[in-house]
Amino acid sequence: MMRVDAMLSRYGYCSRREARAWVNGGRVVSGGVVIKNVNSKVEPADTLVDGEPVPFVDGLYVALHKPIGYTCSHDEEGDLVYDLLPTQWMRRGDGVNSVGRLDKETSGLLLMTDDGSFLHALTSPKRHVPKVYEFETECPIPAEAVQIFADGQLVLKGEKMPCAPAQLRIIAPCRGELVLHEGRYHQVRRMLAAVGAPVVRLHRSAIGPLKLEDLNLQPGEWVAIDPAMFR
Ligand code: URA
Repeated sequence: MMRVDAMLSRYGYCSRREARAWVNGGRVVSGGVVIKNVNSKVEPADTLVDGEPVPFVDGLYVALHKPIGYTCSHDEEGDLVYDLLPTQWMRRGDGVNSVGRLDKETSGLLLMTDDGSFLHALTSPKRHVPKVYEFETECPIPAEAVQIFADGQLVLKGEKMPCAPAQLRIIAPCRGELVLHEGRYHQVRRMLAAVGAPVVRLHRSAIGPLKLEDLNLQPGEWVAIDPAMFR
């Protein structure tokens, strides 16, 4: 149970100060009863605001099909991935963030959440959640790259630690799939550039058990997911 003004602000409807007007307007119904007093306590899961259930009472977990040209940032110029989500979510108490990032020019599966521990668990280097990337290159991918990546011996420019072993599949001379178990800055592009095959198109098709193609999302669309699949 929580105070109705705290609930309205926690889930991004309005500020605590504005809550009185929402309550006075009869917009909040809890347990089937119209709430009249801003000091009342409500159970968010049993509450309707403007006739609709409070979304994601137990945490927000969403898969987004990130389009090319959108930046994973809250405050940069241009199109942002957060512009693709309802604005009310951005005002939720714990904010909404992407689980890791994709480059502006990369498309594909991006998880969004307001649950800090879920975010940290999935991005922690200890977890090794596999991420699958499909890509096209400017020139043919050298066959030796398969072994170089699998051996975990590749040291990227400006780094000391070699990349963790990664699985490369060459599908066509200039097309492949790479499975990474870590997430370094521009990692796919830098690994392919290091073997002489700069990436010209990059798309993330899966994170752990979640495959973008199973979600049937057009670029820019999102769908709620069950976080339990990542436990
Ligand atoms: N590797 C990259 O180079 N870019 C991404 O967006 C993700 C992985």
